[in-house]
Amino acid sequence: MVNDQTKNYSESGTSFRQALEFKELGFSIYDTMIYAKNNPPPLNHTRYEQGFEYMFVFSKGKVRVFNPLKEVCKHHGRNRTGTRRLDKEGSLKSINTKGFVKEEKIIDNIWWYSVGKSESTDKIAFQHEAIFPEKLVRDHILSWSNEGDLILDIFMGSGTVAKVSLENKRNFIGFEVSKENCENANKRIGK
Ligand SMILES: C[S@@+](CC[C@H](N)C(=O)[O-])C[C@H]1O[C@@H](n2cnc3c(N)ncnc32)[C@H](O)[C@@H]1O
Repeated sequence: MVNDQTKNYSESGTSFRQALEFKELGFSIYDTMIYAKNNPPPLNHTRYEQGFEYMFVFSKGKVRVFNPLKEVCKHHGRNRTGTRRLDKEGSLKSINTKGFVKEEKIIDNIWWYSVGKSESTDKIAFQHEAIFPEKLVRDHILSWSNEGDLILDIFMGSGTVAKVSLENKRNFIGFEVSKENCENANKRIGK
């Protein structure tokens, strides 16, 4: 996840720059996803509240694993209503109406989470000022890896990725520059 800093009335462009630099290094920008916040923390009120962050998914060509998260289609089992198009006579006509709406579909790439208390049930995690919601981490880990895979988090913070990796039968390696954060993360995982 990446977001911009705002300085002298301008966003830094860090997000876009990061994506393009990874592309120049030979990675594919496999997906540009949005981490949308149900309850964005209010900032300085000089612009609309910052309600999202980018989540760039980089890969070397085709992703090795994709276990898409799915949701139930609201109208499953009903006849497809199709797409409406103007015909030559100027009337609206439905096309692609054959078949039934299927039971489930792959979810879209805007993912919504609440921030704050509901991010984790581990009190110790909140000693860190910027934790990821556990659900967000779980959704990514399940999407892009299989059981037994190795997950690397180069900015471990409170250890959310480690915790969720273990819960979902993945191994992990974590880097964290702050000794205090490392100790707290180890306590969190140890629990
Ligand atoms: C946004 S936090 C990560 C939060 C984490 N995802 C969680 O859920 O707790 C970024 C972390 O990266 C650490 N960090 C910053 N630069 C680093 C570096 N060069 N090497 C390792 N860790 C670093 C910071 O100390 C901070 O804890």
